[in-house]
Amino acid sequence: MVKIAIAGMGFMGKMHLSVYSSKLPNAEVVALFDVRKEALDIRNLDTGGNIKTDARPLNLSDIRKYTDFDTMLKEGGFDLVDICLPTYLHADISVRAMEAGYHVFCEKPLALTVEEGERIVNAVNKTKRLFSVGHCLRYWPAYINTKKLIDSGRFGKVRYAEFARFSEAPVWTAGGWVMDGKKSGNAALDLHIHDVDFISFFFGRPEGVFSRGVFEKDGSISHIATSYSYEDKVVQSTGGWICSDSFGFNMRALFVLELATIELDFSKKPVVTVYPQGGERYPLELPEGDGYYYELKSFVDSVEKGEPLNPVSAEDALESLRLCLREIESAGSGRYVSI
Ligand SMILES: NC(=O)c1ccc[n+]([C@@H]2O[C@H](COP(=O)([O-])OP(=O)(O)OC[C@H]3O[C@@H](n4cnc5c(N)ncnc54)[C@H](O)[C@@H]3O)[C@@H](O)[C@H]2O)c1
Repeated sequence: MVKIAIAGMGFMGKMHLSVYSSKLPNAEVVALFDVRKEALDIRNLDTGGNIKTDARPLNLSDIRKYTDFDTMLKEGGFDLVDICLPTYLHADISVRAMEAGYHVFCEKPLALTVEEGERIVNAVNKTKRLFSVGHCLRYWPAYINTKKLIDSGRFGKVRYAEFARFSEAPVWTAGGWVMDGKKSGNAALDLHIHDVDFISFFFGRPEGVFSRGVFEKDGSISHIATSYSYEDKVVQSTGGWICSDSFGFNMRALFVLELATIELDFSKKPVVTVYPQGGERYPLELPEGDGYYYELKSFVDSVEKGEPLNPVSAEDALESLRLCLREIESAGSGRYVSI
């Protein structure tokens, strides 16, 4: 049994608690940490965020609760710390947890700056702890099975790909930290980075980026659209949180291959449809479960076996952070940025 401490009991902390407690038989949450006492008083798993989980009654009386991180680390009794705190805390808390001897699963993005990301990478190398980041698209059946189908070569090469992530403003975060760019990196680092990471994973590092941003009065980016330079294909991505609240949230992608077009759209059923050249369209069969389930299962299994089994290392997440920061630079300068 892998014993877990969750740090940060907001939207994602509850999401992770829900996965561990209801879907992973080899995982047990034994400790919770949050600076807000009331956040530790969890009666159900209604996350209040843009992705719903099972809202059901919970008995957390056996779980230890902390408002001080160092006390939790000192008392221990767990194998891994799962960090669901605001992004500006990721580097410091990750490094402290690894230096105290714990494996760490950290929510995305890895950090706000390359320097902070490098601190984490150095701590992973020094402490030899297992570490992974919640870049959930690398585990999400719709994305990963589409990638597998494309990688099979059955429909030839990708000629064009586009990724989109449209959201209302995430007003539900504790104290509104996510709307403060210094704490979250704004829509680019907080939301769009999901697609940036998947593009980097799927197609490798582009030669350069050209981005445009929707900027708010305080200079923050609330929506970003990027064109990535690859020699043999055109790749674009767009994402942000300027949609109306009645629109909510959607993620989608379109892949135009030599012999098929593949559409991925979470507002449709089926989510993934394959349109072969000269053939009838058909739905791509997908296994049950979402990216959160598969990423946490993979990390818990890694900790149980004592070896990294999952596809997102600290270096991978740092690479995605670097790419996203280059996009922000391009949007700010209005110029193409070479990578
Ligand atoms: N993978 C995904 O799809 C996804 C979705 C949403 C958020 N996230 C990421 O998860 C992380 C958390 O986001 P969220 O939406 O859950 O935020 P949230 O505001 O809902 O939750 C954060 C929690 O951290 C607590 N907290 C804040 N400062 C603290 C401190 N100094 N010490 C201890 N606790 C503190 C807050 O009280 C709150 O309960 C962010 O890095 C975000 O980018 C990932």
